[in-house]
Amino acid sequence: MSHFDAVSLAPADPILSLTEAFKADSNPDKVNLSVGVFVDQTGTTPILDTVKEAEKRLLEGATSKSYLPMTGTPAYASLTQKLCFGEELAGELQGRVASLQSPGGTGALRVAADFISKNLETNTVWLSNPTWANHKGIFGAPGLKLETYNYYNAETLSLDYAAFIESLNNIPAGDVVVLHGCCHNPTGVDLTAEQWEEVAQIAATKKWIPLIDFAYQGFGDGIEEDAAAARIVAKAGLPAFVCQSFSKNLGLYQDRVGALHVITDDASNFANVVSQLKISVRVNYSNPPAHGGAVVTTILSDAALTEQWHAELAAMRDRIAGVRTQFVDALKAAGVERDFSFLIEQKGMFSFTGLSKEQAVALREKHSIYIVDSGRINVAGITDENVAQVAAAIKDVL
Ligand code: LMR
Repeated sequence: MSHFDAVSLAPADPILSLTEAFKADSNPDKVNLSVGVFVDQTGTTPILDTVKEAEKRLLEGATSKSYLPMTGTPAYASLTQKLCFGEELAGELQGRVASLQSPGGTGALRVAADFISKNLETNTVWLSNPTWANHKGIFGAPGLKLETYNYYNAETLSLDYAAFIESLNNIPAGDVVVLHGCCHNPTGVDLTAEQWEEVAQIAATKKWIPLIDFAYQGFGDGIEEDAAAARIVAKAGLPAFVCQSFSKNLGLYQDRVGALHVITDDASNFANVVSQLKISVRVNYSNPPAHGGAVVTTILSDAALTEQWHAELAAMRDRIAGVRTQFVDALKAAGVERDFSFLIEQKGMFSFTGLSKEQAVALREKHSIYIVDSGRINVAGITDENVAQVAAAIKDVL
């Protein structure tokens, strides 16, 4: 008899467990297209030169490792607001937007989930069908009720805009709707700025609250273009949550750095909102880890470093866009008859290939190619070296 006998075996994480399996695979030709991590042409996840320069400066100038404030530093809050909303709109939001530095985008989502469950009248959060697998865990953890809205049509492999809008029109007032700011995870299928305008209008009329998961700024069309959703919603004067991440666009995956911005539609609620956010932070991790935030602050407060970062980010974005075309060509060259040209239009790191769970498992078991069971691939994991191999394996499992 053990006190732990009642502990049951939890299901493996649908994304991160694949990297564990990949690491344990002894096949020298294995390919990991599961977790959303950028790799360059050589197959490595680089530290950006901008980040190295910032870290050099930080190492030389560091004087203390004392705690950060619960919400992180004011400089970080201000710089990340400007990146997210643009300078002018960020200025207009002062006194209404409560921002905090979080441990990654996941930390921002989890603080938001806690805040919603404890403080809002609603107990219901709406998720995209499909969505990032971890959304269910994060919003389910504090006991929120989960519903799904229509988004993607698995038959046409594209956005079902009419069904999406119909769903949004039927969401009750006060509920929270989790939207993907850009580079929809897992489908890579995004909304246009005009479509975002319509979404914001529906949120205003129906009075539900948008929560924008914004983990890929700069990986779609560009830093400014990708911010359309967050900016349109904020400009419309709606209450909203925006969860930002620097894992991908600054390559700071392991430093766990992100931000939560909570926009209140009435400035009189601001101090109360901040006070409750602090409670959530305090009981979860007390205050954020400093290093990643210091790197972000160093880069965003220096015009030359910011410009250099923009160029490095553009290079990552261009590589992913190039790989999409290269991959579609390789599939044709491998003799795959199914039309995969839809992959070219998708945005960001991910694509929904339309492959079934059985085909995903076969790719893994027969070819040591790791993709998520939903058929999602991380396009950024494809290189000159593995593209023909991946295409041939897909031909085999189709
Ligand atoms: C992904 O979807 O692969 C990334 O967001 C990484 C993660 O934590 O799942």
